[in-house]
Amino acid sequence: MQDGLSTRFCSQYGIRYPIVQAPMAGGWTTPELVAAVTNAGGLGSLPATRLSVDALRDAIAKIRSATHGPFAVNFLVGPPDDAPADVNAMQLVLDEVRAELGLPPGPRALRLPPSVIAEQLGVALEAGVPVISFAMGCPSPLIQAAHSAGARVFVMVTTVDEAIEAERFGADVVVAQGIEAGGHRSTFQIGLDKDLPQVGTLALVPQVVDAVSVPVIATGGIMDGRGIVAALALGASAAQLGTRFLLTTESAAVPAYRAWIASRSETSTRITRLLTGRPARAFQSRLLDRLEASGLDALPWPYQAFAADDIYRAAIQRGDAEYMSLLAGQGLRLSQGEVGAAQLVESLVQEANAVLGRFAPMETTASLPS
Ligand SMILES: Cc1cc2nc3c(=O)[nH]c(=O)nc-3n(C[C@H](O)[C@H](O)[C@H](O)COP(=O)(O)O)c2cc1C
Repeated sequence: MQDGLSTRFCSQYGIRYPIVQAPMAGGWTTPELVAAVTNAGGLGSLPATRLSVDALRDAIAKIRSATHGPFAVNFLVGPPDDAPADVNAMQLVLDEVRAELGLPPGPRALRLPPSVIAEQLGVALEAGVPVISFAMGCPSPLIQAAHSAGARVFVMVTTVDEAIEAERFGADVVVAQGIEAGGHRSTFQIGLDKDLPQVGTLALVPQVVDAVSVPVIATGGIMDGRGIVAALALGASAAQLGTRFLLTTESAAVPAYRAWIASRSETSTRITRLLTGRPARAFQSRLLDRLEASGLDALPWPYQAFAADDIYRAAIQRGDAEYMSLLAGQGLRLSQGEVGAAQLVESLVQEANAVLGRFAPMETTASLPS
C-alpha cells in the first residue's frame, strides 16, 4: 500500500513513509512521540532547544531504547541578537500581566545562559544520531562536524536563496518552510530593517525543488493526506508536519493548548516577534493583544522569550492559554481529534493513498484514444 507514496528519500533514510514529524521546542516533543513516529514508519525529530546537555542525552537514550529506527535531533542556530540597552519599558507592560497572575515584577537585567549547542551536538553525534537538522541558519562548522561523525544534515529554509546557500554549505536535504508553518520562521538573517520573506508552501516548494539538487522536504500547513500528496506533487521528497502531531497522545502539549488547536481556525494565528524576539507563527492571545497595544517593539532574540518566561510557565501551571507562548500553523481546522502517533501516521498514509487512488481514473481517461 505504501508503494505509491514511497520516495527515493524513504529508501535513503530507511523509512517507510515520506512523513517527518517536525521538531517542536517548548517541551511538547517527547522522546515517546519521536520513537512512536519512527516505529510507525516515519521520521521522528527531537528538538534540542532549551534542553540541558544531560536532558538531551537522556532523551536520546530514551528514544534509542524505544526504537531501532532513524530519527533526527534539531537545533535552532539563530545567534542571539545584541543585548537590549533597556528592558524596563517591556517589563513594565509584562508586570501588569504578572500582577494578574500573582507573580513578582520581572528582572530589569537579563542575562542569557551560555549557548550549549556545541556540547549538545557533540552528545547527539557521539550517540550516533543519524540525522541532524538545523533551523534559522546553516553553520558550516556544525554541518562539517555532523558529516565527519557520519550524520546527515537537514537545513530548513524559507527562500530559494537560502536553499542554494544551504546546499552550498553541505546540507543533504533542505526543508522548505512555507509561511503557513507554525513556530519560528527559519529565515537565516532577520534584521528589524528587513522584510520577512513570506512565501507560501505551494509557491516555495517547487521553486526550491528546481533550484537545488538535494532532496526537499515540504513543511507548513500540511495536516492530512491531501497535503502530503500535494507536497509530493510539487516535487518534495517528504512532508514535515508539526501542528498535527501536537494533538497526539504522546505529545506533551497541555490540555489548554490542545483545546486551542482543536477549536481554532485558519485565521487564529499570526506571525509575531513579541513572544521570543524572532518572528514565529503563534496563536493570537490576550498576552499578544496587550503587547501589541503597548506599541513597544519586541526585545531582541531571544531576550523577549527570557523576559516573559516566568509568565509562560505560570500560565502553563494555571492552564491559561491566554498567557502561554503557543505556536501553531494555519491548518487548524484540519487538526481533528487526539490519536496515538502511530495511528496518526497510519491514517495519514491511508488518506494519502486514497487521494492518489482518485487520480488513477483521471490518468486512464486521459490516455483513452479520442
Ligand atoms: C510548537 C512548535 C514548535 C516548533 N519548534 C521548532 C523547533 O524547535 N525547530 C524547528 O526546526 N522547527 C520548529 N517548528 C517548526 C516546524 O519545524 C515546522 O516548520 C512547522 O511545524 C510546519 O508547520 P505546521 O505546524 O503547519 O505543520 C515548530 C513548530 C511548532 C508548531
